[in-house]
Amino acid sequence: MIKIAPSILAADFSKLGEEVREVELAGADWIHIDVMDGHFVPNITMGAIVVDALRPLTNLPLDVHLMIANPDQYIEDFANAGADYITVHVEAAPHLHRTIQLIRSFGVKPGVVLNPHTPVESIQHILEDIDLVLFMTVNPGFGGQKFIHSVVPKIEQLSRIIDEKGLDIEIQVDGGINEETIVPCAKAGANVFVAGSAIYSQKDRAAALQGIKQVGEE
Ligand code: DX5
Ligand code: ZN
Repeated sequence: MIKIAPSILAADFSKLGEEVREVELAGADWIHIDVMDGHFVPNITMGAIVVDALRPLTNLPLDVHLMIANPDQYIEDFANAGADYITVHVEAAPHLHRTIQLIRSFGVKPGVVLNPHTPVESIQHILEDIDLVLFMTVNPGFGGQKFIHSVVPKIEQLSRIIDEKGLDIEIQVDGGINEETIVPCAKAGANVFVAGSAIYSQKDRAAALQGIKQVGEE
């Protein structure tokens, strides 16, 4: 039921391949890749070249979270690099429907991301077209921030809409997820959890990952 997507943003970049393999062996379900451009968010991380390098090293789905301005310009690159999911911020995609179709045209599963303050209503007319909704529970840009609780009612709201409409959409949460904060999100209906520092900053990553997953499944 519950999927854990470790965010490699918190990994040791000098040995990224090993870091990915370690969480795969530990039971990770997806690998979350945070792409930041220094424009949409105040930080710069990695591009399609990193997705391409990791692709042969893992069988897990690569979940690419684009925190970039003008995402349309780079979607083909990420698709060719081997992304399985590409999520774009509603706030960065003025022609969201076109962007979603573009992602799908490359055989990649599309998702949309909502910043903590962005209402669920902003995606109500695109739900039929997407596979994933990602709720930010921190302001995007950095790992290791504090979970914003006021996002939880939004998760409940979307979860209700998905049930009513009988849609098949994964609900993902990203930012400040740990053994405590996963609980209200899972209760609210989320099923995919990104965790960066709560896994990679621990000595025993397997124990950390399994601990979070177990609590989420209770
Ligand atoms: C923040 C990123 C997150 C981040 C999560 O902009 O989207 O994926 O890596 O890190 P933690 O789990 O440490 O909050
Ligand atoms: Zn992310």
